[in-house]
Amino acid sequence: MTVYLNGAFMPIEEARVPVLDRGFIFGDGVYEVIPVYSRRAFRMAEHLKRLQHSLDGIKLPNPHSEREWTDILTEIIRRNDQEGRNQDQYLYLHITRGVAKRDHAFPNPPVQPTVFVLSNPLTTPSAEQLQRGIDCITVVDNRWLRCDIKAIALLPNVLLRQAAVEAGCAEAILIRDDAFLTEGAASNIFVAKNGTLLAPPKDNLMLPGITYDVILELAAANGIPHEVRKVTKAEVFGADELLLTSSTKEVLAITTLDGKPVGNGKPGAMFAKMHTLYQTFKRDVMRK
Ligand code: PDD
Repeated sequence: MTVYLNGAFMPIEEARVPVLDRGFIFGDGVYEVIPVYSRRAFRMAEHLKRLQHSLDGIKLPNPHSEREWTDILTEIIRRNDQEGRNQDQYLYLHITRGVAKRDHAFPNPPVQPTVFVLSNPLTTPSAEQLQRGIDCITVVDNRWLRCDIKAIALLPNVLLRQAAVEAGCAEAILIRDDAFLTEGAASNIFVAKNGTLLAPPKDNLMLPGITYDVILELAAANGIPHEVRKVTKAEVFGADELLLTSSTKEVLAITTLDGKPVGNGKPGAMFAKMHTLYQTFKRDVMRK
């Protein structure tokens, strides 16, 4: 596996970061995850735009232009396409404020940021997960108020996902202020009710998902009723269907919540529609 670290491509075993890196010490950095289909990065421009938003959010200048990012990502994709098999991949981009003496305030003068890029084979959900759907729990969203930043400091998300795993579930659905839906620990969540798709608004309390945008665009283009607005906790529990989206999970049906069936407990019509539209979009846009 070839990775990129601070200007050089190397085998992952050779990639080293000093212990005083602010990513290690403070979780002071941001990241992106980009799926790659048939050697093409999915929605690269949108991911790079969200990366810029995250960097702006932590006041860290972007170390690369869009052109430079594109070149780095293209090269990583090429180097990790084993034997030219066109295997799908996912890219992980990680930028920290760099290496400096431990002090909470930013290094002054600034130091070189650490830039790391990794590619892994993309494992999309199994046929069983698609057919049966997944189990989720609801948890209190106890994260900070800048969840729109894709920060590497993921301890709350890690603990919330672990709570789901310990309950035998795949994901935790986050409820803020005991009142409304935000997202999943590492995914966005949609509610389907009476044929309408409901999505929480992109604000400071959730990550603006790239897959989330694709789903809403597909709904709009295909005449599927949809509303972007605050979704209440009661609407989550009263849903006909719940859908989960992310770059690596694509679209999944959530069929149990806190141990009880969602709707009739089976992946429903909205899931079938959105999943088919997403797969068709992926095939038409990415593979041709
Ligand atoms: N996570 N919300 C959170 C908190 C996330 O971590 C993610 C994705 C999403 C979905 O965003 P997108 O559709 O752009 O992947 C929403 C990635 C996959 C991860 O951390 O591995």
